[in-house]
Amino acid sequence: MAEKERGIPMPEINIGLVGHVDHGKTTLTSALSGKWTDTHSEEIRRGITIRLGYADVTVYKCQKCKGPACWCTTRKCPKCFSDAKPVRTISLVDAPGHETLMTTVLSGAALMDGALLVISAHEPVPQPQTREHLTALNIVGIRNIVVVQNKIDLVTEEEAKKNYQQIKDFLKGTVAENAPIIPVSAQHNINIDALIDAIESNIKTPERDPKAAPKMVVARSFDVNKPGTPLKNLIGGVLGGSLLQGTLKVGDEIEIRPGIKIKGKYSPLKTKITGLQKSMVDIKELTPGGLAGVLTELDPAVVKSDRIAGNVLGYPDRLPPVLEEITIKENLLERVVGAKEELKVEPVRTGDVLMLTIGVIRTVGSVTSVGGGKVTVGLKIPVAAEKGDRVAISRQVAGRWRLIGWGEIL
Ligand code: GTP
Ligand code: MG
Repeated sequence: MAEKERGIPMPEINIGLVGHVDHGKTTLTSALSGKWTDTHSEEIRRGITIRLGYADVTVYKCQKCKGPACWCTTRKCPKCFSDAKPVRTISLVDAPGHETLMTTVLSGAALMDGALLVISAHEPVPQPQTREHLTALNIVGIRNIVVVQNKIDLVTEEEAKKNYQQIKDFLKGTVAENAPIIPVSAQHNINIDALIDAIESNIKTPERDPKAAPKMVVARSFDVNKPGTPLKNLIGGVLGGSLLQGTLKVGDEIEIRPGIKIKGKYSPLKTKITGLQKSMVDIKELTPGGLAGVLTELDPAVVKSDRIAGNVLGYPDRLPPVLEEITIKENLLERVVGAKEELKVEPVRTGDVLMLTIGVIRTVGSVTSVGGGKVTVGLKIPVAAEKGDRVAISRQVAGRWRLIGWGEIL
């Protein structure tokens, strides 16, 4: 389908869903978009989200209903059945809540322009990952947050009010102190219109510079060819991700960093864009926001099964340098926030193994020197990053990667 046949706006913003395990992020993603994003067999078997899920939703405003804005996700208003106007298309990024998957949340946060913090009304507040994910949003610099008090169908009005107060108390002094709190039932589609209203007022599409050097983070990479496709019919490697700045066009020559490992050393990949897609629609020009697919001339075998996820894509020689060692100005949290008991964060020492998340890239490294608030880490997998980039620092605590702080590349 071509862009103009679609009749609805293209995705222009990514909004993440974060929060404690089982609080209803995937159910809410489905209530908004109609898509169930837990599709992998392991996710279905265990009933939890493991990988980041993606789904688009177009929000519509009824032109006829009186009173407060009447929002829906369908072309016809469900209240008065008159035509509703498409206002904005949002790409939802559904994050996992399980405590072992914190670093997936951190890399997903690099794609988010805003976030919904989903909190169950049926459990005391805060649960460990409610706290840990909110800390992660703060570290990554996500300020546009709407808090969703989910599962209100499971509690009495009085319990819901008590839980609401607990949420308010928990948010005090955090980045989400003034965020609206919207009670909903994702499973029973209750109050979803009020949630859309809060999203539309609080999570605006950021202003972007279309003339900046393009920078896209690659979150996934695929070989879309069926086994046995004849060589002449093969489609080149497809890269999925989000353009953070600039504009990309079909025909552009691009570079991908740090690239792939050849004979023990990473080499950037150079190729040409043969097609661009957003929301399954072919487009000629890609602007920031929303999730996009970039079709290339790359050998599909090189990119299959997310092999180059975590890379950065842009114009040749206009990308951040590839670093094998980074020095960061460190800020450690006082306590490890994601565990049931809040443990003290021990200082970083030479020889410590840390997991660093820089944009969507996760890389493990060993600390080579520490001092004066600075930490130098030798990286197992190099990253394309530059001075000033934010780094989330995680460490193994009792067998789990836990968020312990953040830094900035010096
Ligand atoms: P993870 O991704 O694994 O962290 O879980 P999640 O936050 O995505 O939760 P999910 O949407 O998978 O829902 C977990 C369970 O809660 C499922 O059994 C849902 O049916 C249920 N659930 C979600 N929302 C609601 C709700 O509003 N009301 C009720 N009663 N149950 C809900
Ligand atoms: Mg989920």
